[in-house]
Amino acid sequence: MSHRLTRRSFIGTSAGALITATSCSSEEQAADVSQTESPWVKDSNGFILHPTNLETRLDHLRGLLTPNEQFFVRNHAPTPLIAAETYQLRIEGDAINQPMTLTYDDLLRLPTATNLAYLECAGNWRKFFQEVTGQVASGGQWETGAVGCAMWTGVQLGHVLELAGVLDNAVDVNLFGMDGGEFNRPMSLATALDSDTLLAMSMNGSPMPPDHGFPVRGVVPRWPGSNSVKWLNRIVVSSTRQWVKNNTTSYVLVGDQWPADRHSPADGMPIAALNVKSALALPRPAALHAAVQTIRGYAYSPEGPIRRVEWQADDAGWQPARIVEPVLPRAWQRFEFTWNATTGTHRLRTRATDARGNMQPETVPFNAKGYLMNAILSYSIEVT
Ligand code: MTE
Repeated sequence: MSHRLTRRSFIGTSAGALITATSCSSEEQAADVSQTESPWVKDSNGFILHPTNLETRLDHLRGLLTPNEQFFVRNHAPTPLIAAETYQLRIEGDAINQPMTLTYDDLLRLPTATNLAYLECAGNWRKFFQEVTGQVASGGQWETGAVGCAMWTGVQLGHVLELAGVLDNAVDVNLFGMDGGEFNRPMSLATALDSDTLLAMSMNGSPMPPDHGFPVRGVVPRWPGSNSVKWLNRIVVSSTRQWVKNNTTSYVLVGDQWPADRHSPADGMPIAALNVKSALALPRPAALHAAVQTIRGYAYSPEGPIRRVEWQADDAGWQPARIVEPVLPRAWQRFEFTWNATTGTHRLRTRATDARGNMQPETVPFNAKGYLMNAILSYSIEVT
């Protein structure tokens, strides 16, 4: 790989260490990348399989953190294998004062930040549009497992942008991945500067696994998972809105109740926030023995923490579920309740309410691409 330096400069100090930045021309692509044959690297046993994605089975999870081996994978192209030694991250754009390039070691020397946050694909629960609205949305038919909760450690994106110097006219920040097609999705400057937004290098205490973005990925809490760009190698800060595939034709709300923004070139409103949900740690359909059962589940919202979760069996009225500690603003919330399961077919439902008072609705308006489904789900349980 060619690597042509044009200038080398000191850009700041951090934790006593001198950080160096390499300024180089933007056509350079220094990192060694190889391609896997299969869409992902991890063992797919225990996942619900989709053509290019792996869905977590919530009934296989126990703790607060989703183990890396069980964390869902959403890939638009096969997982690339990237060498940390030659990795470079370029920060550029017309709203950046001094375009710069950081190596993996440069990033490791910056002050670290840790976030315990859930990450969810905007298409999670897409399959249930049919059940709730009678209409089938296009795209992967995820059930409830395109979500997970991890401890992400890295550098605040805002810190890196500060080093490069963000100009007053900055509007949008776009992160680009090194996978086929350079996956990217812009976010607002305010979101990029939010202290929760990370360039993560570690997941649950281990170096970022290949399928989740090694060596560096974005983690953008509250926004759809598509903003948490994996295999990150370029950040573009611009003085105007950036319109790309993933905020004009994908990850936009298209439907009668979602009029397109007349001032944008997008097909519908670009999604900028997830919504409140709760799901049970049960397979669908579920079979249980007649007994007093502890039923577990996960609730989450971009406006965390979750304030309460309620449950109901066979339409017998809402009752409060127990909240399982800890209660954290960006993490998902574990909950449980005791249910006397008697022989027969039953229907369990749960609904969550977040810190802002947002509660899951009975139904949601359809959108053609099947995003942000959060209507109260029904679980059919066969008790024998
Ligand atoms: N980043 C790149 N480079 N390529 C991708 O295909 N998929 C996005 C996002 N980041 C994607 C990406 C989507 S749609 C989601 S939901 C999350 O990654 C999923 O992250 P995970 O695979 O680590 O669970």
